Amino acid sequence: MLSYRHAFHAGNHADVLKHIIEVQILRYLAQKEKPFWYIDTHAGAGLYSLTDRYAATNAEYESGIARLWHEKNLPESLAEYVDLVREFNPDGELRFYPGSPLLAEKLLRQNDQLHLFELHPTDYALLKDNFEGAGKRVKLYLTDGLKGVKALLPPQPRRGLVLIDPPYERNDEYREVPSSLEQGLKRFAGGVYAIWYPLLPKREATELPKLLAKHAQRWLHVTLQVKAAGRDGFGMYGSGMFVVNPPWTLLQTLEQTMTYIRDTLAQDPAASFSIVTNGLT
Ligand SMILES: C[S@@+](CC[C@H](N)C(=O)[O-])C[C@H]1O[C@@H](n2cnc3c(N)ncnc32)[C@H](O)[C@@H]1O
Repeated sequence: MLSYRHAFHAGNHADVLKHIIEVQILRYLAQKEKPFWYIDTHAGAGLYSLTDRYAATNAEYESGIARLWHEKNLPESLAEYVDLVREFNPDGELRFYPGSPLLAEKLLRQNDQLHLFELHPTDYALLKDNFEGAGKRVKLYLTDGLKGVKALLPPQPRRGLVLIDPPYERNDEYREVPSSLEQGLKRFAGGVYAIWYPLLPKREATELPKLLAKHAQRWLHVTLQVKAAGRDGFGMYGSGMFVVNPPWTLLQTLEQTMTYIRDTLAQDPAASFSIVTNGLT
């Protein structure tokens, strides 16, 4: 049973890290004229109201996007991301937060394609509404993204980003994600794959990046810890992005901005970040 609803978490520190990286990768891919595909294996609803009962429950966005909203001198890559969020809040007040597929839609060109998987029927219906009239370049699938992505690879233009962003509400997902990456790389070795995962005090989460690294040669792994890990063994204290075949510009961008991101999103003095790479030189 699917109980996870992203509406509770929209715009939190994890979304900020994930979406800054997503935006940077898509902007890079869009620099070349040749079309590309954006594949989102776990798309969510697409757009979230920050004032409805879900987002207001824990107000997670207040320690995420809200901390960047009024900053005047954001580093360029953060400003590019916040400016996209502003497009959904034209009166300047932070009321809506776009999920990964709508951020992507802003950056893709007419000949690029979006392929969006969402398994939760309610979120799928919302996603469909949010892409109403978007045209033929957007394809929606009410199926399992980790299984379904295989059939789409390689994309016909042989360029693309696969964003893998599961809720990790089942422990099996920590096994299924590396396996999906392995299968994806067999079919589309040159693709960019961006995998989000939570920092949690549990073995499966700690080991995920090691399992991912077994399947890839060129990768960048960035983590953002926003607070000390809970002693009770529960609670997300940050998140990580494991990017396979990252654009060459991404490492430098993160080296220039992660200190700022850590300082802005810190919830206690244990806040920190790490960047590890392999095969990028
Ligand atoms: C973390 S949220 C996605 C957030 C979205 N990528 C974003 O950044 O805005 C995970 C989503 O995956 C959906 N989901 C869970 N298991 C799935 C599966 N096997 N295939 C596709 N979607 C799934 C959940 O219903 C939820 O909406």
